[in-house]
Amino acid sequence: MRIKRVDAWEVLDSRGRPTVAAALMLDDGTAASASVPSGASTGRAEAKERRDGGKRFRGLGCRQAVAHIRGPIAAALLGECFDDQEQLDRHLLELDGTADKSRLGANALLAVSLAFARAAAACSGIELFTYFASLLPEPFPPRLPALTINLFSGGKHAFGQVAIQDVLVVPKLGATVMERLAQVYEVYQQAAALGARRYQVRALTADEGGLAPPFSDSSEMLEAAAEAVGAAGYELGREIGLAVDVAASHFALAGGYYNLDGKSLSSEQLIETISAWTRSYPVISVEDGLAEDDWAHWPVLRRELGDRALTLADDLTCTTPARIRRAIDTGAANALLLKVNQVGTLTEAKESYLSARAAGWPVSVSARSGETEDAWLADLAVGWSAEFIKIGSITQSDRLAKYNRLLQIEHQYTMTGFSPEGVLELIPFRWPSR
Ligand code: PGA
Ligand code: ZN
Repeated sequence: MRIKRVDAWEVLDSRGRPTVAAALMLDDGTAASASVPSGASTGRAEAKERRDGGKRFRGLGCRQAVAHIRGPIAAALLGECFDDQEQLDRHLLELDGTADKSRLGANALLAVSLAFARAAAACSGIELFTYFASLLPEPFPPRLPALTINLFSGGKHAFGQVAIQDVLVVPKLGATVMERLAQVYEVYQQAAALGARRYQVRALTADEGGLAPPFSDSSEMLEAAAEAVGAAGYELGREIGLAVDVAASHFALAGGYYNLDGKSLSSEQLIETISAWTRSYPVISVEDGLAEDDWAHWPVLRRELGDRALTLADDLTCTTPARIRRAIDTGAANALLLKVNQVGTLTEAKESYLSARAAGWPVSVSARSGETEDAWLADLAVGWSAEFIKIGSITQSDRLAKYNRLLQIEHQYTMTGFSPEGVLELIPFRWPSR
Protein backbone atom coordinates (compact mmCIF):
# COMPACT_ATOMS: atom_id res chain seq x y z
CA MET A 1 0.00 0.00 0.00
CA ARG A 2 1.61 3.21 -1.18
CA ILE A 3 0.85 6.34 0.80
CA LYS A 4 -0.28 9.30 -1.24
CA ARG A 5 -1.37 11.86 1.36
CA VAL A 6 -1.03 12.37 5.11
CA ASP A 7 -3.08 14.80 7.15
CA ALA A 8 -3.69 15.56 10.84
CA TRP A 9 -5.66 18.00 12.96
CA GLU A 10 -6.73 18.63 16.55
CA VAL A 11 -10.11 17.36 17.78
CA LEU A 12 -11.57 17.50 21.29
CA ASP A 13 -11.97 14.55 23.63
CA SER A 14 -14.77 13.89 26.12
CA ARG A 15 -13.19 16.28 28.66
CA GLY A 16 -13.04 19.04 26.04
CA ARG A 17 -9.28 18.69 25.76
CA PRO A 18 -7.47 18.55 22.44
CA THR A 19 -6.33 15.24 21.04
CA VAL A 20 -5.01 14.10 17.67
CA ALA A 21 -6.82 12.89 14.55
CA ALA A 22 -4.93 11.70 11.49
CA ALA A 23 -5.90 10.67 7.97
CA LEU A 24 -4.06 8.71 5.32
CA MET A 25 -4.81 8.38 1.64
CA LEU A 26 -3.48 5.43 -0.31
CA ASP A 27 -2.42 5.40 -3.94
CA ASP A 28 -5.74 3.88 -5.04
CA GLY A 29 -7.63 6.78 -3.44
CA THR A 30 -8.71 4.87 -0.30
CA ALA A 31 -8.75 7.35 2.59
CA ALA A 32 -9.31 6.75 6.30
CA SER A 33 -8.94 8.60 9.56
CA ALA A 34 -8.73 7.82 13.28
CA SER A 35 -8.44 9.72 16.55
CA VAL A 36 -6.74 8.80 19.81
CA PRO A 37 -7.89 8.82 23.45
CA SER A 38 -6.08 10.15 26.52
CA GLY A 39 -5.94 9.04 30.16
CA ALA A 40 -6.09 11.00 33.42
CA SER A 41 -5.08 8.31 35.89
CA THR A 42 -2.04 7.42 33.84
CA GLY A 43 0.75 4.98 34.64
CA ARG A 44 4.30 6.31 34.90
CA ALA A 45 5.58 3.82 32.31
CA GLU A 46 3.17 5.00 29.62
CA ALA A 47 4.44 6.32 26.30
CA LYS A 48 4.46 10.12 26.35
CA GLU A 49 1.83 12.19 24.61
CA ARG A 50 3.09 15.37 23.03
CA ARG A 51 1.37 18.39 24.62
CA ASP A 52 2.13 22.01 23.71
CA GLY A 53 2.40 23.65 27.13
CA GLY A 54 1.69 27.38 27.48
CA LYS A 55 -1.67 29.02 28.10
CA ARG A 56 -3.80 27.64 25.28
CA PHE A 57 -6.00 24.80 26.62
CA ARG A 58 -3.98 25.06 29.85
CA GLY A 59 -0.98 23.56 28.13
CA LEU A 60 -2.89 20.57 26.72
CA GLY A 61 -2.91 21.63 23.05
CA CYS A 62 -1.77 19.10 20.47
CA ARG A 63 -0.56 21.47 17.74
CA GLN A 64 2.97 20.11 17.98
CA ALA A 65 1.82 16.50 17.66
CA VAL A 66 -0.26 17.52 14.64
CA ALA A 67 2.70 19.40 13.15
CA HIS A 68 4.84 16.29 13.63
CA ILE A 69 2.40 14.24 11.56
CA ARG A 70 2.08 16.86 8.84
CA GLY A 71 5.85 17.48 8.87
CA PRO A 72 8.43 14.76 9.56
CA ILE A 73 6.00 11.81 9.58
CA ALA A 74 4.38 12.85 6.28
CA ALA A 75 7.82 13.42 4.75
CA ALA A 76 8.89 9.91 5.74
CA LEU A 77 5.69 8.18 4.55
CA LEU A 78 4.75 9.97 1.34
CA GLY A 79 5.31 7.85 -1.74
CA GLU A 80 6.49 4.91 0.39
CA CYS A 81 4.98 1.48 0.08
CA PHE A 82 4.12 -0.55 3.20
CA ASP A 83 3.20 -4.21 3.00
CA ASP A 84 1.70 -4.41 6.42
CA GLN A 85 1.00 -2.74 9.77
CA GLU A 86 4.23 -3.88 11.34
CA GLN A 87 6.37 -2.31 8.61
CA LEU A 88 4.54 1.00 8.97
CA ASP A 89 4.75 0.98 12.77
CA ARG A 90 8.45 0.08 12.78
CA HIS A 91 9.07 2.96 10.41
CA LEU A 92 7.28 5.33 12.79
CA LEU A 93 9.23 4.02 15.77
CA GLU A 94 12.56 4.48 14.02
CA LEU A 95 11.60 7.97 13.04
CA ASP A 96 10.77 8.86 16.65
CA GLY A 97 13.87 7.14 17.96
CA THR A 98 13.06 7.52 21.70
CA ALA A 99 12.05 4.76 24.10
CA ASP A 100 9.03 6.70 25.40
CA LYS A 101 7.90 8.27 22.07
CA SER A 102 8.47 11.73 23.52
CA ARG A 103 10.06 13.21 20.39
CA LEU A 104 7.16 12.95 17.96
CA GLY A 105 4.58 12.06 20.62
CA ALA A 106 2.76 8.79 21.30
CA ASN A 107 -0.49 10.61 20.38
CA ALA A 108 0.95 11.44 16.93
CA LEU A 109 2.28 7.90 16.34
CA LEU A 110 -0.91 6.13 17.39
CA ALA A 111 -3.17 8.35 15.27
CA VAL A 112 -1.12 7.43 12.19
CA SER A 113 -0.89 3.74 13.17
CA LEU A 114 -4.70 3.55 13.51
CA ALA A 115 -5.45 5.57 10.36
CA PHE A 116 -3.22 3.13 8.46
CA ALA A 117 -5.14 0.17 9.95
CA ARG A 118 -8.44 1.65 8.76
CA ALA A 119 -7.10 2.48 5.33
CA ALA A 120 -5.61 -1.02 4.96
CA ALA A 121 -8.90 -2.64 6.01
CA ALA A 122 -10.89 -0.44 3.61
CA CYS A 123 -8.45 -1.14 0.80
CA SER A 124 -8.93 -4.91 1.26
CA GLY A 125 -12.71 -4.53 1.65
CA ILE A 126 -12.74 -6.07 5.13
CA GLU A 127 -14.11 -4.85 8.43
CA LEU A 128 -11.72 -3.24 10.88
CA PHE A 129 -12.14 -6.09 13.39
CA THR A 130 -11.24 -8.64 10.71
CA TYR A 131 -8.15 -6.58 9.91
CA PHE A 132 -7.15 -6.48 13.61
CA ALA A 133 -7.63 -10.26 13.79
CA SER A 134 -5.38 -10.66 10.75
CA LEU A 135 -2.50 -8.96 12.60
CA LEU A 136 -2.25 -11.91 15.01
CA PRO A 137 0.01 -14.81 14.01
CA GLU A 138 -2.78 -17.29 14.69
CA PRO A 139 -6.03 -15.40 14.71
CA PHE A 140 -8.56 -16.46 17.31
CA PRO A 141 -12.09 -16.38 15.94
CA PRO A 142 -13.47 -12.90 16.65
CA ARG A 143 -15.42 -12.73 19.90
CA LEU A 144 -18.08 -10.49 21.42
CA PRO A 145 -16.51 -9.61 24.77
CA ALA A 146 -18.16 -9.55 28.18
CA LEU A 147 -19.10 -6.00 29.17
CA THR A 148 -17.57 -4.47 32.29
CA ILE A 149 -19.54 -1.27 32.78
CA ASN A 150 -18.68 1.59 35.10
CA LEU A 151 -21.50 2.20 37.60
CA PHE A 152 -19.81 4.34 40.29
CA SER A 153 -16.70 6.49 39.96
CA GLY A 154 -14.17 7.83 42.42
CA GLY A 155 -10.47 8.58 42.37
CA LYS A 156 -9.05 10.83 39.70
CA HIS A 157 -12.22 10.60 37.62
CA ALA A 158 -14.42 12.10 40.33
CA PHE A 159 -12.34 14.64 42.28
CA GLY A 160 -11.12 11.91 44.62
CA GLN A 161 -14.43 11.78 46.52
CA VAL A 162 -13.53 8.20 47.44
CA ALA A 163 -10.19 6.52 46.85
CA ILE A 164 -11.10 3.72 44.45
CA GLN A 165 -11.70 4.69 40.87
CA ASP A 166 -14.43 2.41 39.50
CA VAL A 167 -17.02 -0.04 40.66
CA LEU A 168 -18.25 -1.83 37.56
CA VAL A 169 -21.16 -4.12 36.85
CA VAL A 170 -20.68 -7.21 34.72
CA PRO A 171 -23.76 -8.86 33.22
CA LYS A 172 -23.14 -12.60 33.03
CA LEU A 173 -26.24 -14.16 31.52
CA GLY A 174 -27.78 -11.83 28.93
CA ALA A 175 -27.60 -13.55 25.57
CA THR A 176 -26.98 -10.44 23.46
CA VAL A 177 -25.11 -7.17 23.88
CA MET A 178 -28.43 -5.31 23.88
CA GLU A 179 -29.92 -7.57 26.54
CA ARG A 180 -26.90 -6.97 28.76
CA LEU A 181 -27.08 -3.20 28.17
CA ALA A 182 -30.78 -3.25 29.07
CA GLN A 183 -29.93 -4.95 32.37
CA VAL A 184 -27.26 -2.37 33.13
CA TYR A 185 -29.65 0.48 32.23
CA GLU A 186 -32.00 -0.70 34.97
CA VAL A 187 -29.16 -1.06 37.48
CA TYR A 188 -27.90 2.43 36.55
CA GLN A 189 -31.35 3.97 37.09
CA GLN A 190 -31.63 2.24 40.46
CA ALA A 191 -28.17 3.47 41.41
CA ALA A 192 -29.07 7.04 40.44
CA ALA A 193 -32.28 6.82 42.50
CA LEU A 194 -30.35 5.41 45.45
CA GLY A 195 -27.90 8.34 45.22
CA ALA A 196 -30.76 10.83 45.20
CA ARG A 197 -32.50 9.15 48.15
CA ARG A 198 -29.51 8.60 50.36
CA TYR A 199 -27.34 11.60 49.59
CA GLN A 200 -29.93 14.11 48.31
CA VAL A 201 -27.95 14.69 45.13
CA ARG A 202 -28.95 14.65 41.51
CA ALA A 203 -27.24 12.03 39.36
CA LEU A 204 -23.89 13.74 38.83
CA THR A 205 -21.51 11.83 36.64
CA ALA A 206 -17.74 11.55 36.46
CA ASP A 207 -15.35 11.51 33.49
CA GLU A 208 -16.49 8.16 32.11
CA GLY A 209 -20.18 8.74 32.83
CA GLY A 210 -20.15 6.77 36.11
CA LEU A 211 -22.31 8.06 38.98
CA ALA A 212 -20.48 9.83 41.77
CA PRO A 213 -22.64 10.39 44.86
CA PRO A 214 -20.66 11.55 47.92
CA PHE A 215 -19.93 8.15 49.46
CA SER A 216 -18.13 8.28 52.78
CA ASP A 217 -15.76 5.50 51.78
CA SER A 218 -14.96 2.91 49.14
CA SER A 219 -16.81 0.06 50.88
CA GLU A 220 -19.99 2.11 50.74
CA MET A 221 -19.56 2.30 46.97
CA LEU A 222 -19.49 -1.49 46.66
CA GLU A 223 -22.43 -1.84 49.02
CA ALA A 224 -24.47 0.65 46.96
CA ALA A 225 -23.61 -1.22 43.74
CA ALA A 226 -24.81 -4.49 45.27
CA GLU A 227 -27.98 -2.77 46.43
CA ALA A 228 -28.66 -1.27 42.99
CA VAL A 229 -28.29 -4.69 41.34
CA GLY A 230 -30.79 -6.15 43.82
CA ALA A 231 -33.22 -3.24 43.41
CA ALA A 232 -33.08 -3.78 39.64
CA GLY A 233 -34.34 -7.32 40.24
CA TYR A 234 -31.14 -9.20 39.42
CA GLU A 235 -29.42 -11.82 41.45
CA LEU A 236 -26.02 -10.49 42.44
CA GLY A 237 -23.26 -12.86 41.48
CA ARG A 238 -25.34 -15.20 39.34
CA GLU A 239 -26.83 -12.70 36.89
CA ILE A 240 -24.67 -9.66 37.47
CA GLY A 241 -21.19 -9.61 38.97
CA LEU A 242 -19.11 -6.68 40.15
CA ALA A 243 -15.57 -5.56 39.31
CA VAL A 244 -13.33 -2.86 40.77
CA ASP A 245 -10.56 -0.66 39.49
CA VAL A 246 -8.79 0.31 42.70
CA ALA A 247 -6.25 2.46 40.75
CA ALA A 248 -4.08 2.31 43.87
CA SER A 249 -1.11 4.15 42.29
CA HIS A 250 -3.14 7.31 42.67
CA PHE A 251 -3.58 7.13 46.43
CA ALA A 252 -0.18 5.65 47.26
CA LEU A 253 1.87 7.54 49.84
CA ALA A 254 5.62 7.64 50.22
CA GLY A 255 7.18 4.73 52.11
CA GLY A 256 4.89 2.00 50.79
CA TYR A 257 1.67 3.22 52.43
CA TYR A 258 -1.73 4.02 50.96
CA ASN A 259 -4.27 6.69 51.85
CA LEU A 260 -7.55 4.77 51.55
CA ASP A 261 -10.32 7.29 52.25
CA GLY A 262 -8.28 9.08 54.92
CA LYS A 263 -6.88 5.92 56.52
CA SER A 264 -3.21 5.12 56.16
CA LEU A 265 -2.77 1.45 55.24
CA SER A 266 0.29 -0.70 54.60
CA SER A 267 0.32 -2.84 51.45
CA GLU A 268 -0.64 -5.86 53.57
CA GLN A 269 -3.58 -3.99 55.10
CA LEU A 270 -4.77 -2.84 51.67
CA ILE A 271 -4.57 -6.45 50.45
CA GLU A 272 -6.65 -7.54 53.45
CA THR A 273 -9.24 -4.85 52.73
CA ILE A 274 -9.50 -5.83 49.07
CA SER A 275 -9.67 -9.47 49.98
CA ALA A 276 -12.54 -8.73 52.36
CA TRP A 277 -14.39 -6.91 49.55
CA THR A 278 -14.04 -9.94 47.30
CA ARG A 279 -15.37 -12.20 50.07
CA SER A 280 -18.37 -9.97 50.79
CA TYR A 281 -19.28 -9.27 47.16
CA PRO A 282 -19.06 -11.30 43.94
CA VAL A 283 -16.14 -9.30 42.52
CA ILE A 284 -14.88 -10.96 39.34
CA SER A 285 -11.75 -8.84 38.88
CA VAL A 286 -9.58 -6.44 40.85
CA GLU A 287 -7.66 -3.97 38.71
CA ASP A 288 -4.57 -2.18 40.06
CA GLY A 289 -5.20 -3.31 43.65
CA LEU A 290 -1.72 -2.02 44.46
CA ALA A 291 0.50 0.75 43.13
CA GLU A 292 2.45 0.42 39.88
CA ASP A 293 5.80 0.14 41.71
CA ASP A 294 4.67 -2.11 44.58
CA TRP A 295 6.07 -5.18 42.77
CA ALA A 296 6.88 -6.93 46.04
CA HIS A 297 3.24 -7.14 47.13
CA TRP A 298 1.44 -7.84 43.85
CA PRO A 299 2.17 -11.61 44.05
CA VAL A 300 0.76 -11.58 47.58
CA LEU A 301 -2.42 -9.94 46.32
CA ARG A 302 -2.67 -12.43 43.46
CA ARG A 303 -2.30 -15.40 45.81
CA GLU A 304 -4.83 -13.87 48.18
CA LEU A 305 -7.41 -13.40 45.41
CA GLY A 306 -6.71 -16.91 44.13
CA ASP A 307 -9.53 -18.11 41.88
CA ARG A 308 -12.08 -15.75 43.40
CA ALA A 309 -11.19 -12.74 41.27
CA LEU A 310 -8.77 -11.93 38.47
CA THR A 311 -5.73 -9.86 39.40
CA LEU A 312 -5.91 -7.37 36.55
CA ALA A 313 -2.88 -5.23 35.69
CA ASP A 314 -3.33 -1.73 34.23
CA ASP A 315 -0.82 0.88 35.55
CA LEU A 316 1.41 -2.00 36.68
CA THR A 317 2.05 -3.21 33.14
CA CYS A 318 1.08 -0.15 31.02
CA THR A 319 0.58 -2.44 27.98
CA THR A 320 4.38 -2.72 27.65
CA PRO A 321 5.90 -6.13 26.82
CA ALA A 322 8.79 -5.87 29.33
CA ARG A 323 6.54 -5.01 32.29
CA ILE A 324 4.06 -7.73 31.29
CA ARG A 325 6.87 -10.30 31.18
CA ARG A 326 8.02 -9.18 34.62
CA ALA A 327 4.47 -9.54 35.95
CA ILE A 328 4.25 -13.04 34.47
CA ASP A 329 7.66 -14.10 35.82
CA THR A 330 6.94 -12.83 39.32
CA GLY A 331 3.33 -14.03 39.46
CA ALA A 332 2.19 -10.45 40.04
CA ALA A 333 -1.03 -10.63 38.02
CA ASN A 334 -3.06 -12.99 35.85
CA ALA A 335 -4.99 -10.73 33.48
CA LEU A 336 -4.09 -7.80 31.22
CA LEU A 337 -5.87 -4.50 30.77
CA LEU A 338 -4.88 -3.45 27.27
CA LYS A 339 -4.81 0.25 26.34
CA VAL A 340 -3.13 0.79 23.00
CA ASN A 341 -2.15 4.39 23.73
CA GLN A 342 -0.19 3.33 26.82
CA VAL A 343 2.37 1.88 24.44
CA GLY A 344 1.93 3.94 21.27
CA THR A 345 1.45 1.73 18.18
CA LEU A 346 -0.72 -1.23 17.21
CA THR A 347 2.32 -3.44 16.63
CA GLU A 348 3.64 -2.91 20.15
CA ALA A 349 0.17 -3.43 21.61
CA LYS A 350 0.06 -6.71 19.70
CA GLU A 351 3.36 -7.79 21.30
CA SER A 352 1.92 -7.00 24.72
CA TYR A 353 -1.23 -8.91 23.86
CA LEU A 354 0.73 -11.95 22.67
CA SER A 355 2.91 -11.99 25.81
CA ALA A 356 -0.20 -12.04 27.96
CA ARG A 357 -1.86 -14.71 25.81
CA ALA A 358 1.27 -16.90 25.95
CA ALA A 359 0.90 -16.93 29.74
CA GLY A 360 -2.79 -17.82 29.42
CA TRP A 361 -3.99 -14.44 30.69
CA PRO A 362 -7.46 -13.18 29.80
CA VAL A 363 -7.46 -9.72 28.22
CA SER A 364 -9.69 -6.72 28.84
CA VAL A 365 -9.51 -4.13 26.05
CA SER A 366 -9.99 -0.73 27.64
CA ALA A 367 -10.93 2.82 26.72
CA ARG A 368 -9.33 5.86 28.41
CA SER A 369 -11.15 8.41 30.54
CA GLY A 370 -10.72 10.95 27.73
CA GLU A 371 -12.26 9.47 24.57
CA THR A 372 -13.53 10.66 21.21
CA GLU A 373 -16.48 9.31 19.26
CA ASP A 374 -14.13 7.03 17.32
CA ALA A 375 -15.14 3.39 17.87
CA TRP A 376 -12.03 1.43 16.80
CA LEU A 377 -11.79 0.08 20.35
CA ALA A 378 -14.87 -2.12 19.81
CA ASP A 379 -13.32 -3.58 16.66
CA LEU A 380 -10.06 -4.21 18.49
CA ALA A 381 -11.81 -6.10 21.31
CA VAL A 382 -13.74 -8.24 18.82
CA GLY A 383 -10.79 -8.79 16.45
CA TRP A 384 -8.41 -9.73 19.25
CA SER A 385 -11.00 -11.96 20.85
CA ALA A 386 -10.85 -10.15 24.20
CA GLU A 387 -12.71 -11.79 27.07
CA PHE A 388 -13.71 -8.35 28.39
CA ILE A 389 -14.19 -4.80 27.20
CA LYS A 390 -14.09 -1.76 29.51
CA ILE A 391 -15.60 1.31 27.88
CA GLY A 392 -16.97 3.30 30.82
CA SER A 393 -20.59 3.92 31.66
CA ILE A 394 -23.70 3.81 29.47
CA THR A 395 -24.01 7.57 29.03
CA GLN A 396 -21.99 9.99 26.85
CA SER A 397 -21.59 9.49 23.13
CA ASP A 398 -17.84 8.89 23.46
CA ARG A 399 -18.73 5.65 25.33
CA LEU A 400 -21.89 4.84 23.37
CA ALA A 401 -20.06 4.96 20.04
CA LYS A 402 -18.23 1.81 21.17
CA TYR A 403 -21.29 0.01 22.57
CA ASN A 404 -23.18 0.92 19.41
CA ARG A 405 -20.40 -0.49 17.27
CA LEU A 406 -20.58 -3.76 19.25
CA LEU A 407 -24.33 -3.80 18.62
CA GLN A 408 -23.73 -3.30 14.91
CA ILE A 409 -21.11 -6.06 14.74
CA GLU A 410 -23.32 -8.44 16.66
CA HIS A 411 -26.37 -7.64 14.54
CA GLN A 412 -24.77 -7.70 11.13
CA TYR A 413 -22.29 -10.50 11.63
CA THR A 414 -24.12 -12.95 13.82
CA MET A 415 -27.70 -12.33 12.75
CA THR A 416 -28.34 -10.81 9.34
CA GLY A 417 -25.11 -11.13 7.39
CA PHE A 418 -25.74 -7.58 6.07
CA SER A 419 -22.05 -7.01 5.60
CA PRO A 420 -19.27 -7.46 3.04
CA GLU A 421 -18.15 -10.62 4.78
CA GLY A 422 -21.61 -12.15 5.33
CA VAL A 423 -22.41 -14.10 8.50
CA LEU A 424 -19.19 -14.82 10.35
CA GLU A 425 -18.17 -17.32 12.99
CA LEU A 426 -17.98 -15.01 16.00
CA ILE A 427 -17.43 -16.66 19.37
CA PRO A 428 -20.89 -16.10 20.86
CA PHE A 429 -21.23 -14.55 24.29
CA ARG A 430 -20.41 -17.00 26.99
CA TRP A 431 -19.24 -16.05 30.39
CA PRO A 432 -15.42 -16.44 30.26
CA SER A 433 -14.39 -19.52 32.20
CA ARG A 434 -11.27 -19.37 34.32
P1 PGA B 1 -7.44 6.63 32.63
O1 PGA B 1 -8.20 5.62 33.56
O2 PGA B 1 -7.86 6.45 31.22
O3 PGA B 1 -7.78 7.98 33.20
O4 PGA B 1 -5.97 6.33 32.82
C1 PGA B 1 -8.72 4.40 33.16
C2 PGA B 1 -8.26 3.27 34.06
O5 PGA B 1 -7.52 3.48 35.04
O6 PGA B 1 -8.60 2.13 33.80
ZN1 ZN C 1 -7.27 1.28 35.61
